[in-house]
Amino acid sequence: MSQERLAALLSEKRSYMPPVHGKSSAWISGEEECEAVCRRALEDPEDFWGARASQLLHWFKRWNHVLVADEAQHKYRWFTGAKLNASFNCIDRHLITGRRNKAALIWQGEREMDVRCYTYQMLYTEVCRVAHALSSLRIRRGDHVALYMPMIPELAIAMLACARIGAIHTTIFSGYAEGGVRSRIQDSKARIVITADAAVRAGKNKPLKANLDPILEKCPSVAHVVVVDHAHMDDVSMKPNRDIWWHDLIDDFTLNSDFPCEIMDANDTLFLLHTSGSTGKPTGVMHSTGGYLTYAAHTTQWCFDMHDDDVYWCTADMGWITGHTYGIYGPLALGATTLMFEGVPVWPKPDRYWNIVEKFRVNILYTAPTVIRSLMRLGEAWTERYDLSSLRILGSVGEPINPEAWHWYHKHVGDRQLPIVDTWWQTETGGAMISPMPYATKLKPGSAARPLPGIDAAVLGAAEHDGEEGKEVGRLVIRKPWPGMMLGVFNDEGKYRSYFSRFGCYESGDGAQVDEDGYFWILGRIDDSINVSGHRLSTVEIEAALTSCPEVAEAAVVPMPHDLKGEAIYAYITPREDVPWSEDLRAKLRDAVRRDIGPLASPERIQFVSAMPKTSSGKIIRRMLRKIAADAEDTGDTTSLANPEVIAEIIRGHNNLMRGKAENAPTENP
Ligand code: PRX
Repeated sequence: MSQERLAALLSEKRSYMPPVHGKSSAWISGEEECEAVCRRALEDPEDFWGARASQLLHWFKRWNHVLVADEAQHKYRWFTGAKLNASFNCIDRHLITGRRNKAALIWQGEREMDVRCYTYQMLYTEVCRVAHALSSLRIRRGDHVALYMPMIPELAIAMLACARIGAIHTTIFSGYAEGGVRSRIQDSKARIVITADAAVRAGKNKPLKANLDPILEKCPSVAHVVVVDHAHMDDVSMKPNRDIWWHDLIDDFTLNSDFPCEIMDANDTLFLLHTSGSTGKPTGVMHSTGGYLTYAAHTTQWCFDMHDDDVYWCTADMGWITGHTYGIYGPLALGATTLMFEGVPVWPKPDRYWNIVEKFRVNILYTAPTVIRSLMRLGEAWTERYDLSSLRILGSVGEPINPEAWHWYHKHVGDRQLPIVDTWWQTETGGAMISPMPYATKLKPGSAARPLPGIDAAVLGAAEHDGEEGKEVGRLVIRKPWPGMMLGVFNDEGKYRSYFSRFGCYESGDGAQVDEDGYFWILGRIDDSINVSGHRLSTVEIEAALTSCPEVAEAAVVPMPHDLKGEAIYAYITPREDVPWSEDLRAKLRDAVRRDIGPLASPERIQFVSAMPKTSSGKIIRRMLRKIAADAEDTGDTTSLANPEVIAEIIRGHNNLMRGKAENAPTENP
């Protein structure tokens, strides 16, 4: 983040008090109660988390210890000895209450008339059938199942069926292309992949099964592919003995065939979800059954003040952690009604979200700043057409929300009255860590407010990239364990340890600043990740896709500020000698990234340079490249450079590029 952006954030002085209406029934009501809970949770965390786990979940067997900590290895095991099942907690236990016929999952497809609604009873039936079906394919407790699926109910059903069996699901975002899908399947060694013929997006079918087929040739672990006939495509190729249609598979199981759930240990892995790491390989974050589910239910209840009669909509794709925690596990563990939408906010018109809010009388809306910014740009006429008065709480996640977008959301969606919970968290943390409580926290637009109860967040050290001048900008860390914390990194103990190597406690990889009221201002990633439209991408993975082109000698990828996406990808490329710097090459490079990782990683700008700025040991100094991409006036100290002369050339090339000219065009006389 640039110094200017930081200054703009910190100059935002307005604040908003929590609403009075609704406060009396809130789970946490008022600042005093919130502070008292935070104090108690930090004074006696085990008592606090033990009480929350008892209140929120059904345990087949209670724990021996709330927490067993191995500080030397940074291994934290919650609720040891306890037994439970996530699918039982999300479904079965609601069947003996008045929630049996309540809507658990409402699905809105891309076409207005495509709506499906599952009550808890119906969800139970479908999940049991799919659990039987997976079991018939010899999926057992501890096996891995990959889900490469669009936002359709079958995805949620498959996740819950895996949880029922004790199989570990690995969801792969349906927007990933070849490399992204392959590396995730190979890392998890999934025995089955569940997919669909296609995802439907903005009126078009985006094939999934056809994408998967060539990838599977390099994934020997996969014995079967189960295909949902979602878009009804004509020409889906099915490999005999390997590929099975979802409807044929479950058809063998009757509607009354219960599937008893597996009794899982609290520290058995519930799922694996890959996130972008600092190496070229995605990081396989493992989450536990007991700790994760407790934390998902706990934060869903308190951050969104979730009550039984709420209709709750988390717009995140289930391929990301937000979809796992706040689309499925958190709301269903609480017996809530969760809404799932397959389409995009602006298709066929930019009123899609507001149409859905009005249609289902949504009470809680949780979305991303990038969505808010893109809708803001299209104007408030789209919100004004709809009755949004059912809304009670608004949420934001995935990237820093700029005060301008915050105010638009507050005014045009929240009618200047609704609280906005700006929740900071990560794949690794399992659930929200720093967030307002809607009826208790004074809001400052652009700040995620304070750490939630039991979360010991702090800002330590100096953040190398952005904070040289302002020493108070540092690295965001969490000093004490919490139940939603990842169990580990799959097949990569070293990567897990690296989160703790600098400070001896969990380091998030984000820069942050704390103000005089103890409010946290998140400044974005300070590691090798880029957050594009709330999607965390690895610069190393993108660089690998770029250098796989034979024309490229070297590539360096950095973030650049972007009005809609928050951050976009800026790639510096040194082509091999004799390779012309052409538009064709730029197109080829973009295409390579799209094919390998997916369209979301496609570089916004590609700048050709004759050499990268390097240290005497040959290491590229990305810090300077970041500054140039961000149009910073000062690129910082160049004394550590072995080739300081390249800086002027790179700045000139950048300026030319931003004016739509070739990098090596002659500089105009002023
Ligand atoms: O940089 C932070 C940003 O998203 C990163 C985590 O990405 P991921 O693991 O994909 O999870 C995204 C959804 C939780 C963080 O390191 N981030 C997330 N929420 C916020 C945020 N940045 C600022 N404010 C937030 N509310």
